[in-house]
Amino acid sequence: MKADRAPLLVFDSGVGGLTVLREMRVLMPDRTFLYVADDAGFPYGAWEEAELTARMVALFGQLLAKHRPEIVVIACNTASTLGLAALRKAYPDTPFVGTVPAIKPAAERTRSGLVSVLATPGTVKRQYTRDLIAQWATKCHVRLVGSTELAGLAETYMREGFVEEDAVKAEIAPCFVEQAGKRTDIVVLACTHYPFLVNRMRKTAPWPVDWLDPAEAIARRALSILPVVDDNAGGGEGADIALFTSGAPGKSIIRLMKGFGLAVPIEERVAMEPLEG
Ligand code: DGL
Repeated sequence: MKADRAPLLVFDSGVGGLTVLREMRVLMPDRTFLYVADDAGFPYGAWEEAELTARMVALFGQLLAKHRPEIVVIACNTASTLGLAALRKAYPDTPFVGTVPAIKPAAERTRSGLVSVLATPGTVKRQYTRDLIAQWATKCHVRLVGSTELAGLAETYMREGFVEEDAVKAEIAPCFVEQAGKRTDIVVLACTHYPFLVNRMRKTAPWPVDWLDPAEAIARRALSILPVVDDNAGGGEGADIALFTSGAPGKSIIRLMKGFGLAVPIEERVAMEPLEG
């Protein structure tokens, strides 16, 4: 039985936000979730900044009016490092939780002082990311590694169950730095798609490192901003659903969503108004 309250909206460009959703479920089992994938805009890493911001603001205009979520978790680094401020400004009554590269915890934990941030090309070039490094990691050597392929590889892996290991190996290779007898010891997974590939990353890495996945921390942050209520007082049987901006998720995606406890209602599959891009 789920509490009869407004849903918590979890947003990403594709399946990556599911890595955050699964942690939120563990912490908030009585809540109803609405997962939204802007799959028509995937990959976000390749977008021009002004266009992507405008797209997200327009999309959230529709989503908030229709679904009235209690909070929104932007479970996407590429979207958060760009659009969080614009979304908060456009919709001041909705609390937004963002996902940004875990540079601070990496800087606190590294022993070698060599940290790599693995992200989409969009996240790597953001001023927001540079500011995080300047604020928290001045004592470290931070290498930013932009990957054009990994988010797509993670999508394929989650849909088809298959991934080219050599492709993963090639994408993560620049993260591994040896300098003055020291080696990279932490790789920040700064794209929510990447934790799905972490076993392949471990297998193909030239040496063992700590792969930092911020999903649990994001879920805890979301929990901390929700008002405390007595869940036993809850009413209706809320069903968790997933929406896709393409309006046309394939069979493998619908199956995957089912595995994550999300229904993809037919009437919602085509519910989006056309967006730019
Ligand atoms: N999952 C997204 C992130 O955390 C990016 C995937 C994409 O390129 O759209 O950055």
